[in-house]
Amino acid sequence: MGFYHSVLRPLLFMLPAESAHDLGMSVLRRGWVKAREFHHSILEQEFFGVKFPNPLGLAAGFDKHALAVNHWHLLGFGSVEIGTVTWHPQPGNPKPRLFRIPSHQGLINRFGFNNEGARVIASRLAAARPQLPVGVNLGKSKVTELDAAAKDYQDSYRLLHRSGAYFVVNVSSPNTPGLRSLQEKGPLLDILAALREVDGTKPMFVKVAPDLEMDALDDVLDVAREAKLTGIIATNTTLSREMLPANVRFRDEVGGLSGMPVREKANMTLRHLAQNIEKGTVLIGVGGIFDAQDLYDKVALGAHLCQIYTGWVYGGPQFVPNVLEEFVGMLERDGVRSLADLRGVKL
Ligand SMILES: Cc1cc2nc3c(=O)[nH]c(=O)nc-3n(C[C@H](O)[C@H](O)[C@H](O)COP(=O)(O)O)c2cc1C
Repeated sequence: MGFYHSVLRPLLFMLPAESAHDLGMSVLRRGWVKAREFHHSILEQEFFGVKFPNPLGLAAGFDKHALAVNHWHLLGFGSVEIGTVTWHPQPGNPKPRLFRIPSHQGLINRFGFNNEGARVIASRLAAARPQLPVGVNLGKSKVTELDAAAKDYQDSYRLLHRSGAYFVVNVSSPNTPGLRSLQEKGPLLDILAALREVDGTKPMFVKVAPDLEMDALDDVLDVAREAKLTGIIATNTTLSREMLPANVRFRDEVGGLSGMPVREKANMTLRHLAQNIEKGTVLIGVGGIFDAQDLYDKVALGAHLCQIYTGWVYGGPQFVPNVLEEFVGMLERDGVRSLADLRGVKL
């Protein structure tokens, strides 16, 4: 067992979850933590004109305020998605709002898009010199009515559109009242049209929930086709608790559940999207990656790129290179010569 698992994590896990996160970020944003290096040419890919050194990125919500964008390559990630950013600065929900469920390798959060707002984050990003592709995840401000959502996303995008390798319309967080209703076709098309008015040249994704029924997912696929989306990110956290036994501590906390418990739902969603999506549309698979097999499965289910949040919190700073090295070993074992060859073989 490494230093993180035997010493650091037990200490961090003695702190309230959000304090541990903040402490971690204060060290990470200074570039003080470094993983061993691992690179392999089989992991390199290019999509929508952007080069990704490997397929495993840091999912949205960890570096919400773009504080550590210059340093994420030091941890071995292949990309980072910052945000969620909203037009209005907002404090998010009252604390506590992040809960660990170590027995099931899960987290429940109800942060509610705490962030400094698009203006501050846009100027921070403009000054940054990241060494990885940076995605920018956009959400609706809490104070903005649902029927004014398109303008709210548009206002943020107007300030941020020059600073991202790709953009994400996040309509799948469970922690902003009504937000998930924006996954419906009409509102979603309105938001995308408003963004295109500002800049129609940027790669654009929609991030979906793992709780959508198949016909609702088909609507998102229609939107992807009609609005010529670059791709879809699947998935966000789940509202479901069916995968947790009734007596597990924090099970009944309000919020989105992530990590191991969301893996199956996220993979079912990814599979449905991959089976029905137009060729050339990029799928980013996220939810419940904890080891190389999980990464392998997501690519085999059709993911072009993957992201991780909870597994990294449990896995620690050496997690990404360790998983990538094992993943390359699995590719070699199976005689897979490129990620494109593996993609979709389990569909
Ligand atoms: C504490 C926490 C905060 C999150 N915040 C955001 C967010 O602001 N925006 C977003 O799109 N997703 C957010 N997510 C969802 C993750 O990006 C990811 O989609 C989800 O956790 C599933 O991946 P995982 O199982 O690897 O954690 C958050 C997740 C966690 C655990």
